[in-house]
Amino acid sequence: MSKEIVVSGIRSTGYLHLGNYFGAMRNYVKMQDEYNCYFFVADYHSLTTHPEPEHLRENVYRVVAENIACGLDPDKVALYAQSDIPEIPELYLMLNMLAYKGELEKVPTFKDKVRTQPQNVNAGLLTYPVLMTADILIHKGIKVPVGKDQEQHVEMARNFAQRFNGRYGETFPEPYPFNYSNELVKVPSLDGTGKMSKSENVNATLYLADDDDTIRKKVMKAKTDAGPTEHDSEMPDYIQNIFQLLHLVSKHETVETYRSMYNNCTIRYGDMKKQLAEDMVNFIQPIRERATDLQQDHPQLQRIMKLGAEKARESASKTIAEARKKIGINYY
Ligand code: TRP
Repeated sequence: MSKEIVVSGIRSTGYLHLGNYFGAMRNYVKMQDEYNCYFFVADYHSLTTHPEPEHLRENVYRVVAENIACGLDPDKVALYAQSDIPEIPELYLMLNMLAYKGELEKVPTFKDKVRTQPQNVNAGLLTYPVLMTADILIHKGIKVPVGKDQEQHVEMARNFAQRFNGRYGETFPEPYPFNYSNELVKVPSLDGTGKMSKSENVNATLYLADDDDTIRKKVMKAKTDAGPTEHDSEMPDYIQNIFQLLHLVSKHETVETYRSMYNNCTIRYGDMKKQLAEDMVNFIQPIRERATDLQQDHPQLQRIMKLGAEKARESASKTIAEARKKIGINYY
């Protein structure tokens, strides 16, 4: 039996952080053995915010390098740049005829942008979910690993697939958001407020590109207090967060040792943070080093991206031929 098709796009803005690693990349790496995976850098999507050409190019190289450094194997998956697949904008154009202004204006992410960047409400932003739909349907993708914030977009992709099928006959399967659900991990920020994030609280977020001293400094600044005074007392959020981070990168025994020291009030948060800092350095360092090496090796990155684009176009060209035929724009 052929493997199920997985498609997901990776934003090419901002530096990847620990939250991306545990929330997305680790899942991709796991999926590459079980599914037929298409993972791409969504560079067209990034144009909605008009990045400088030099930045855009470097960001794309970096994201490809970081994903490989995290364990994605370009021989197992198709790893490519969205803009290398001309069939995507072609399908996007077709789907735009089936997408209504009213429904696009109602999308929460669009409404957010209207509020936060009123000076740049371009048509690309409005049709962002249509481009996403084309990304997925071009490979007849079924499982779409995305975070919560993207689930509504995948929902729309499902609607557009249905609409196309309804009008032109059964062509696309209906995609749905996918995650190894029981393993949805929270990666808390170091300041005790919310999660690690690409753009907010840079000092409370650990990036895969952070050097060792930066990692240590950030970890040592994490919020703590004077420590528990009663045995087995309840843990404040910000202490739970430190334990959660420890749990992600340290040995099981280490976590248990600190947990019992917490419970009998002998814990020293300074020591715990030092331990966390060292374990974090050991975790991030090899990823960072592999990523920087690869990022500087443009010929190698280009080979990888070309290979990915070839694989992706093989599947995309079949789908677009079928879509053209269904629509009636096949004349020869
Ligand atoms: N919009 C997604 C994000 O911001 C990235 C993306 C683009 C994507 N196209 C996609 C994700 C197709 C899944 C499928 O994270």
